[in-house]
Amino acid sequence: MSLSVSRRLAAVTAFAVAGLFASAAPAALAAPTAVAAAPTPPDIPLANVKAHLSQFSTIAANNGGNRAHGRAGYKASIDYVKAKLDAAGFTTTLQTFTSSGATGYNLIADWPGGDPNSVLMAGAHLDSVSSGAGINDNGSGSAAVLETALAVSRAGLQPTKHLRFGWWGAEELGLIGSKYYVNNLPTAERAKFAGYLNFDMIGSPNPGYFVYDDDPTIEQTFKNYFSGIGVPTEIETEGDGRSDHASFKNVGIPVGGLFTGASNTKTSAQAQKWGGTAGQAFDRCYHSSCDNTANISDTALDRNSDAAAYAVWTLGASTPVPPGPSFENTADVNIPDSPAAAVSSPITVSGVAGNAPATTKVDVNIVHTYRGDLVVDLVAPDGTVYNLHNRSGGSADNIVGSYTVNASSEVANGVWNLRVRDTAAQDIGYINSWKITF
Ligand code: TRP
Ligand code: ZN
Ligand code: CA
Repeated sequence: MSLSVSRRLAAVTAFAVAGLFASAAPAALAAPTAVAAAPTPPDIPLANVKAHLSQFSTIAANNGGNRAHGRAGYKASIDYVKAKLDAAGFTTTLQTFTSSGATGYNLIADWPGGDPNSVLMAGAHLDSVSSGAGINDNGSGSAAVLETALAVSRAGLQPTKHLRFGWWGAEELGLIGSKYYVNNLPTAERAKFAGYLNFDMIGSPNPGYFVYDDDPTIEQTFKNYFSGIGVPTEIETEGDGRSDHASFKNVGIPVGGLFTGASNTKTSAQAQKWGGTAGQAFDRCYHSSCDNTANISDTALDRNSDAAAYAVWTLGASTPVPPGPSFENTADVNIPDSPAAAVSSPITVSGVAGNAPATTKVDVNIVHTYRGDLVVDLVAPDGTVYNLHNRSGGSADNIVGSYTVNASSEVANGVWNLRVRDTAAQDIGYINSWKITF
């Protein structure tokens, strides 16, 4: 057919220009049409984070002016955070330990679901020093982690990874609470951690934007957030290992985190890129009684809270899950030349509990003399159609490759079909085999 020939020439030219198919063998196929977008990270409301800070401030005021380990203000802080998490559907655990003759508490909150073998944890120390309320150090990190957890609940997030949040006691006495938690994790449990994200001092009044340079993936994730909002960052160097991430890093868990500076002085170069006051400490009230609700940069607290949520959403979603059971049909199914009805190759799936995963994999092997003729669909047991291939690829022959399909709204068990329709005359072929992996 002349029409068909001219279409083919146009297709050949397009691919030659794009240089997509260098060899005769078809490249592995990606299928962007079939992949669902990951949920968008939320904008954490600054007002919510600040409301937690004002509660911490009130708690300190009602309990001798601080929230330090072994003091009533610490336990009241734990009770406040725990009540919010319990109401939001978290499974909370209060872990107790003894330090300097006083009972200390860690609070752990698990978000039900996700891969139990791939845990992403975010945490902050909840204790202050005894000289003040500890609003920047570390009400700021505690409030941001709390509000991120509450945002997970509000979104009904169902990430690939299992999410866990932690509030540590007695950090100011030497990372006591986080060390206790990590030391009491069985080796097998430690191995399940995909990462730990730490937030200690993220609202300094004369802020810098510092990203820990420990695990490169975590570091890059935070940097991506900040570059997206046009804020330059620097590597955190003010006392590397001086917060709870060190407890995790010491046992080989990938760590990262954010920090806006403590008693170090902001340089003029830093003031030029971030604003604020050169020659002045990032936090002049560090470990002082003036670390109160006035000792906060709203802008820094807002940005870092959003960055925390961005990291939890992004890193929580992107686990490569180990492949589940596979089902294959290797019987050839002839694809008659157009005009003709579609043909289907069925696979009966049984014994797979629940729905198909968001990362359902479909391997396709179609022998054909012109794949630009073909429309290929995955048809779920209830008839839902997922298009895998829509006449792309021009004059190359065969379709051999893998597609990822978000089939999470489909019950896995039942009859799945690979459906192929030839839409243009002259070229023919057959379904050689196909496979679906849950
Ligand atoms: N953890 C310290 C404290 O609570 C503060 C601090 C100093 C810090 N250097 C740091 C926190 C580097 C994070 C990263 O007093
Ligand atoms: Zn701190
Ligand atoms: Ca044809």
